[in-house]
Amino acid sequence: MSTNTVDNTRKVTTRRLVEMKHRGDKISMLTAYDYSSAKIIDEAGMDVILVGDSASNVMAGNITTLPITLDQMIYHAKSVMKAVKRALVVVDLPFGSYQGNSKEALASAIRIMKESHAEAVKLEGGAEIRESVERILSAGIPVMGHLGLTPQSINKFGTYNVRAKEKEEADKLISDAHLLEEIGCFAIVLEKIPAALATKVAKELTIPIIGIGAGGGVDGQVLVMHDMLGINKGFSPRFLRRYADLAGIMTDAVQNYIADVKKGDFPNAQESY
Ligand code: KIV
Repeated sequence: MSTNTVDNTRKVTTRRLVEMKHRGDKISMLTAYDYSSAKIIDEAGMDVILVGDSASNVMAGNITTLPITLDQMIYHAKSVMKAVKRALVVVDLPFGSYQGNSKEALASAIRIMKESHAEAVKLEGGAEIRESVERILSAGIPVMGHLGLTPQSINKFGTYNVRAKEKEEADKLISDAHLLEEIGCFAIVLEKIPAALATKVAKELTIPIIGIGAGGGVDGQVLVMHDMLGINKGFSPRFLRRYADLAGIMTDAVQNYIADVKKGDFPNAQESY
């Protein structure tokens, strides 16, 4: 298949993503947290749907991703899984469900797979979470890595600024990416790092590298649905391209509805029994 042509008939698997990288077909990935949005996104031809812990921000209104629980992630993942037929569905392991305890990490990943029927999990971090990643992989659960800006560590970083600009952090990122590939991750998300560094990692690794704020030299791109649809208007980082102004469309629609109700114009005779 040529680049940017969507094959809507074949189920996307982790193996197929690796094949796409080797053919040079870019991978599209977007978040979803509910049935109705996931259905639209899947039917539009998205390759990967991420049930991201960004649900903590855009669905629950928290300032960070830290408060979301494993039960809440499973609730979102179950709703998404009911809608999706073609895309590969990856679910974030939330903060506190895998760090520092590989048995708990495996138990968390198993709950996600058993209760939601999702197809893979994503974890933030490199060498420091190696044991957790290895234990999850040993149970046959596909793992996507996540390096660079890892929002679950916001309290350590102190800001959401671009990561790995300095050599020491860039070297660690490269070594973590190689480690994640060696132990068996099927793909890695690189968030908010210099484009040249992300391109280097994508060239060196054989598994797909999916970028967000990591430039165009990687194997695919991921965005948060609410950001790219213009629902979440307060968030405007440089890497974000807005494909719609849903907040504007919704505001107009809601204001028209309010006006029609106030005027007594809704419902009319055709809209009544
Ligand atoms: O939770 C999320 O939406 C993510 C993406 C930003 C990659 O992890």
